[in-house]
Formats: sequence, structure tokens, C-alpha cells
Amino acid sequence: METKINLPFLRWAGGKRWLARRIAPILKGFLAKENTYREPFLGSGAMFFALAPQRAVLSDLNRELIETYTWVRSRPGELISQLKEWPVDRETYSRLRSLYKMKGIKKAARFLYLNRTCYGGLFRTNMQGIFNTPYGGGSRTPEPLWRDHLIERAAFCLRSGVELKYCDFQININEATEGDIVYCDPTYSGVKRGRFDRYGDVIFSWTDQERLANLSYLAFRKGVTVLVSNGPFPELRGLYRAAYRLKLKKAKSIGKAAINKSVHEEYLFVLDPFGRKHIWNNIAPITNKRIFLAPRKIEPCDNRSTLSRETLQTNLKHMRNKV
Ligand SMILES: C[S@@+](CC[C@H](N)C(=O)[O-])C[C@H]1O[C@@H](n2cnc3c(N)ncnc32)[C@H](O)[C@@H]1O
Repeated sequence: METKINLPFLRWAGGKRWLARRIAPILKGFLAKENTYREPFLGSGAMFFALAPQRAVLSDLNRELIETYTWVRSRPGELISQLKEWPVDRETYSRLRSLYKMKGIKKAARFLYLNRTCYGGLFRTNMQGIFNTPYGGGSRTPEPLWRDHLIERAAFCLRSGVELKYCDFQININEATEGDIVYCDPTYSGVKRGRFDRYGDVIFSWTDQERLANLSYLAFRKGVTVLVSNGPFPELRGLYRAAYRLKLKKAKSIGKAAINKSVHEEYLFVLDPFGRKHIWNNIAPITNKRIFLAPRKIEPCDNRSTLSRETLQTNLKHMRNKV
């Protein structure tokens, strides 16, 4: 029998409900009470809600998203009352979408309404940073937020030991200390050297991928367990040679016919300072034959959002060298 887990209150492109079901029970066993769970690419926070840790630092570079989480934590009842006042139809959707200058709790309620009723749960903005996803239609409604107690449960999970931050991933990862667990789920649809990936008004480049790998090693060397979900792109393997590389498969239904199924693949790179290889191997076979040890010396990163090209190159050279 599958154990019931807390579900996120948002629909989010690239959301990890499917992975959370498999990984969260393991992380639960690894995370000691005094340590902190960190999720620097929060989105809908599927892993966080499934884990529901006592101490966590959750962050994202989407300001409206983080502000919505803070309202969900502090005023869940008022949010629901506001949502119930808005009928679900194309006209109300278009009107709310155009009211992008709303402030405070109304702004958060608008975010939730649009998220639950937009096409595909896709947070997409134009060049001015204004949300522009079309209306989803069909049976989409914000109702599950109160009917299935999603907001109420989220408010409970976001209890006092949970910190919410609007910031670049580097800040959250750099703050990790021994025993912490960091789960990273960056955007990845266009991982190619020199190519950019748009996600809302955030651009995630190849340099960001390098920066993420670099910071993951630094945290690992402090005794932090780091997990990085990523697309199944061969270019990424070179960045995580000291990590266990798991190839995970998720059945993706197209339409309703069971025969019409495609498989979605992702890499999960695991940097585990405690070397719990057998546990990870149980999730999915570790696909790299040789695991290279992490370098002894890596230049420390500060909290700037980008590192100089030279620093990155030096750090990556260290990482690629077998110790
Ligand atoms: C694939 S989504 C995460 C999905 C999440 N795991 C879930 O279950 O819904 C990636 C998230 O990373 C955020 N992001 C992109 N670039 C970032 C950066 N440089 N620093 C922090 N967050 C970033 C995006 O705003 C987006 O919410």
C-alpha cells in the first residue's frame, strides 16, 4: 500500500510529485532533527511537501512565487475566502490576469487562481515579466485548494522552522552545513553549451549548470548530501563525475489510452558524503561504472550570483581530475 504524502498546492511545469514519492521516504530516514533540508529551486516544492521536515530553507528566483508561499503560511483562511469570491470562467481569468499591479494578499490569491486555471500550470511571462499563459478551460478550478485541504496542509508544513527566501540558488546552497540535505531541480529543457533556457522571466544558462555543479561539490565536501535532478543530457555527465548517476524513468500518458504511453527520462546525480551507494542503487541502477573522487581543493564561492569564468574553469578542472 502506498503511503499518503502531502501534495503541493501549486501545479508547476517540471514538478516532481512522481520523484518525491520515491525519494522522500529515503531522505526522511537520512535527515536528523537538528539538520536542515534545503530546496533552492522551489517551484511547487513537491519534494519538500512529501518530506515535511521540521527545519528547511526554501528559495526560488521567482519573487511572486515566494511571496505567495509566505501568504499561504500566514493567512491561509483569508486566501481561500478571496478565491471563493472569484467565479471560474474565461472572463474572470482575463480580468485577473490583466490586474498585474495587485498588492499583498490579493496578489497571492490572484497567483493561486491563475495557477489553478491556466493552461498546463505553466508559469510563463513576457519580456516585461507579466504573466501571459492562456486560460486552461475544461474542469480546471482552484477548488482542490480547499476541498482537498491543500492550502491548510501547506500552511502546516510551512511551520516556524521553515525559512522562505527570494534568491539565487547559490545563496541557499552556500549556507548548507554538515548533515544538511540539498535537493536541486533546475530548469533544463535546453541544456547545451551556450544555449539559454527560459523559465518565467528567469534564464538558466550552461554557466549556471556549471555553477550549480561547482557549488554542489563544495557543499558535499562540507558533509552535505546533495541531489540534483537534471535532463538526460550527455553534456551533464562531465559535471558530476564524483556523483552517483541514476537514470530515472517516468511513464508519461498521452491522452487517456493506456497503450499511448511514452517514457520520460531524467538523471538524478547524488553526492553522498556517507557513501550510501546500495540505497541509491535500489532506487534505480547507478549508471556510471567508475565514480571519481571529489577534488580535495576547490576555491570557495561567495554569495554573488555568478562566478568569474576563470574561477569556474579552475574549479571544474579540479573536479574532473581524479584524486
Ligand atoms: C523545474 S522548476 C522546480 C520544480 C519543483 N521541483 C517542483 O516540484 O515543482 C525550477 C525552478 O527553478 C527556479 N529557478 C530558475 N533559475 C533559478 C536560479 N538561478 N535560482 C533559483 N531558482 C531558480 C524557477 O523559478 C523554477 O521555479
